[in-house]
Amino acid sequence: MAEKEKLRVELCMGSSCFARGNSGTLMSLEEFSEQNGLSDRIELEGHLCLGKCNSGPHMRIGDKEYSGITDPDAVIDLIKKALEE
Ligand code: FES
Repeated sequence: MAEKEKLRVELCMGSSCFARGNSGTLMSLEEFSEQNGLSDRIELEGHLCLGKCNSGPHMRIGDKEYSGITDPDAVIDLIKKALEE
């Protein structure tokens, strides 16, 4: 059986996005992934400032970009949906 492709989740770790919520989101995502045994399904990655700090925090889930989501639970919901696709 072919292994399912990992879902790539990228969070902007520039200081603005980090302070605007991505620090908490990163911790929640690591916990979510660990508790649900999803570390082989989700690939978490940080990246540097995208130069769009005003509309942050920025993240990318799979091939979709999101901005302004500060609630980690909302991010987890998006990830759950993306994993089902
Ligand atoms: S810190 Fe994320 S866009 Fe600048």
